[in-house]
Amino acid sequence: MNKVLVSLLLSLGVSVAAQAADAGKIVGDAEAGKAKVAVCGACHGADGNSAAPNFPKLAGQGERYLLKQLHDIKGGKRTVLEMTGILDNLSDQDMADIAAYFAGQKMSVGAADPKLIERGEALFRGGKLAEGMPACTGCHSPNGAGLAAAGFPKLGGQHGQYVAKQLTDFREGNRTNDGDAMTMRAIAAKLSNKDIEAVSSYIQGLH
Ligand code: HEC
Ligand code: HEC
Repeated sequence: MNKVLVSLLLSLGVSVAAQAADAGKIVGDAEAGKAKVAVCGACHGADGNSAAPNFPKLAGQGERYLLKQLHDIKGGKRTVLEMTGILDNLSDQDMADIAAYFAGQKMSVGAADPKLIERGEALFRGGKLAEGMPACTGCHSPNGAGLAAAGFPKLGGQHGQYVAKQLTDFREGNRTNDGDAMTMRAIAAKLSNKDIEAVSSYIQGLH
């Protein structure tokens, strides 16, 4: 083989290896992300605070959780029919930038139905010990802020209607991207429709 070709192949090999090493630690750039979210705004709101209660708020959501959902939705692990095709042309870097952008916004807070607060709060803070269901606070934190570094999503302020749909989807096996431990599926299995209504309303007003 001629020398030039050999050195070309060698340097290509080196740069491919370097890229592969970098792929493990893509860092999201919020400024760059801002320029990539125009198409999302129609449903999720320009700053990530959606108006319609069936579209989740993304503003202030944990970056790690957001990025995982984007990969899950794009890869088909989580079905979101409304978003069909929307992520197809986004690279891993684009999605990391978008997650960084929304994570840097502030989530607005809604209001809880006063009639449901007592039941909702009891479930959120106390779980159902007799049935072995842990309190939500253990992972989503007492004020609903979540634990961003662990990928535990922020719940406080999220639309109650969206939260209720997720809990029902976990319970019915329509959302299955909560990992091998099936944490949320196991928890939602212990929740009745009335429980879901109360805890979701409570979450909407939590901050
Ligand atoms: C046509 C409306 C629509 C558009 C446009 C859209 N989404 Fe969504 N998105 C939804 C709906 C609806 C859901 C929730 C589905 C469900 O109930 O599980 C969702 C869920 C999500 C979630 C999961 C949120 C969570 O709390 O788990 C993320 C992240 C997300 N979208 C990001 C985006 C991004 C980024 C864009 C733009 C590139 C986008 N979406 C464009 C409708 C839309
Ligand atoms: C042991 C930890 C743990 C406990 C306890 C827990 N969760 Fe979760 N929850 C998670 C994790 C982790 C996820 C994210 C799953 C994923 O990656 O898709 C999640 C996701 C959710 C979501 C979806 C959020 C979104 O934006 O789509 C809702 C809603 C939720 N939990 C509600 C609750 C409620 C209500 C309780 C108490 C009844 C509860 N969780 C208890 C760990 C927990």
